[in-house]
Amino acid sequence: MLRIGSDRKARVTVTVNGRRMSGHAAPRMLLADFLRHELGLFGTHVGCEHGVCGACTVIVDGAVSRSCLRYAVQCDGSEIRTVEGLAGDDGELNALQRAFNRRGALQCGFCTAGILMSATRFLEETPAPTREQVRDMLSGHICRCTGYEQIVRAVLDAGGENS
Ligand code: FES
Ligand code: FES
Repeated sequence: MLRIGSDRKARVTVTVNGRRMSGHAAPRMLLADFLRHELGLFGTHVGCEHGVCGACTVIVDGAVSRSCLRYAVQCDGSEIRTVEGLAGDDGELNALQRAFNRRGALQCGFCTAGILMSATRFLEETPAPTREQVRDMLSGHICRCTGYEQIVRAVLDAGGENS
């Protein structure tokens, strides 16, 4: 059993986008850092590190989660979905990614991976959302570039395409 005060690293095994992967994590290593630096999945971005901006959002065991608010060791055995898992194996973008592209819903892209993951889970639970529901989902994300309107349209488009 790894204690929080210890410097010892523990082996952490997770299933990411359907692939079983392992790495080592010190007790206080964040899930975001584990994904990026141990597993080499740099698609998940890190902004505020305080659970505010939403850039680091991934899906853990079916729930949208800020990966800067979880320790990697807490996720041992979990099923994780990240932005790398959205496109097909052949690299073809999925409906949501295509809608972001079509609508110009990203500029610098810093917020995009987190928004895509929130929107992915949201559309699975709410396949044909209203504009208000989309705006409510986006309230957990900060985007400094787009003014949000194109993102709202892209999620609405993808909802239409999925339904
Ligand atoms: S980096 Fe996790 S919410 Fe901002
Ligand atoms: S596209 Fe730049 S922060 Fe959202």
